[in-house]
Amino acid sequence: MKIVMIGAGYVGLVSGVCFSDFGHHVICVEKDQTKLVKLRAGEVPIFEPGLDVLLKRNINEGRLEFSDDLATSIVDADAVFIAVGTPARRGDGFADLTYVYETAKELGEKLTNDTVIITKSTVPVGTNREIKRIITACNPKAAFEIVSNPEFLREGSAIEDFMRPDRVIVGVGSAEAESVMRNIYRPLNIRETPIMVTDLETAETIKYAANAFLAMKITFINEIADLCEKTGGDVQQVAKGIGLDTRIGGKFLHAGPGYGGSCFPKDTLALVQTGQRYGAPQRIIETVVAVNDARKSAMTGKILAACGGSVKGKRIAVLGVTFKPNTDDMRDAPSLVIIPELIAAGASITACDPEGGDEARKLLDGVDWVDDAYSAADGADALVIITEWNAFRGLDLARIRQLLTTSVFIDLRNIYPPEEVSAAGLTLTNVGKGTIES
Ligand code: UGA
Repeated sequence: MKIVMIGAGYVGLVSGVCFSDFGHHVICVEKDQTKLVKLRAGEVPIFEPGLDVLLKRNINEGRLEFSDDLATSIVDADAVFIAVGTPARRGDGFADLTYVYETAKELGEKLTNDTVIITKSTVPVGTNREIKRIITACNPKAAFEIVSNPEFLREGSAIEDFMRPDRVIVGVGSAEAESVMRNIYRPLNIRETPIMVTDLETAETIKYAANAFLAMKITFINEIADLCEKTGGDVQQVAKGIGLDTRIGGKFLHAGPGYGGSCFPKDTLALVQTGQRYGAPQRIIETVVAVNDARKSAMTGKILAACGGSVKGKRIAVLGVTFKPNTDDMRDAPSLVIIPELIAAGASITACDPEGGDEARKLLDGVDWVDDAYSAADGADALVIITEWNAFRGLDLARIRQLLTTSVFIDLRNIYPPEEVSAAGLTLTNVGKGTIES
């Protein structure tokens, strides 16, 4: 099949590369010339494990191309995916659909043959019908079908998620479009991946409901963590204890500094806006957004308390600044709140991150960047783990203790067993573990 992917951002690039690996002929259309030059040379402009290998292989085998010319690319395409960005609109949090609608207009102007137009970008309910209206208004004779095919890729494990998804959601309006979609995803039949076919609005809603539910799960366990800290109890064991109930499930129950990234913060806000707009307020998610926002600053408070109430004149070593490991993405990372608050409270910061440093330098002023955890700890008054990169999971704690001027060790991701930390002479502050004096 011939597939065109409009937008070679995170979702578009991963999807385009994976579709070419399925054996389809894929053209990714990208307007950003710098990105285009890199991609044509087989270079991946983002950090995503495994993507570089697939990209090079499929370019070399002639199944993957990059272009900035939409009109030529879409000639004879069986399927055209829209995967342009939908950032949160400044001010009101509603998804900004400018790029999606511009793309729809361009498609309307340039479409010459019968095709299926599929939205992969995360778009609020009703957007696909609007895309259809825009294309038809531009080109009343255009022969096309609209499909909503949201993606559920996690940054850092996107290739695995694409190749082995739990399900594929396809919102369609016709049997022909459904058949094209089934052909595109045919390689997944071998794994018996469920392909769930719905109407457009249901598919659009599934995407937001899935992200909002996961954000809610994280926020729920974060509040239970707060409770454990006051009452005694261990949030990790509570999570395990409830997660063993298959109705609840154990995933996305790791307490930490709050969710971040390019999806949960944006999509929860957009769902809240949609609920308000249609008179069906999403009160649980409104609370999730507020609790998660407050959580980041609460982590600063935790660090201050661990440092004896003040960080004035102290040097804090920060390990990990990206919103999660295995990505260079800094969008809505908790570190973007915690580090400036520590600096405002008088601390100086020495930080390191395996991949996020370049991006973080642009976003965080006044931070000294070093290459590894030990250089960060050297001479620091306290050490804080904000992001649980593998590189920080097996630290030589005795060495860390020697390098620090005090014993303050703050693990905001609960990656270290308390016994190990205290055996190294460090004083641990973690998340959701209360101790009651007997
Ligand atoms: C998320 C969803 O997991 C994907 O299914 C979805 O496709 C994607 O958004 C999207 O809409 O495009 P992603 O943002 O890459 O993926 O990251 P997650 O792995 O979901 O993590 C999000 C945040 O939650 C991170 O800050 C992470 O540290 C935090 N988190 C996650 C926790 O604090 N605790 C957990 O138990 C899990």
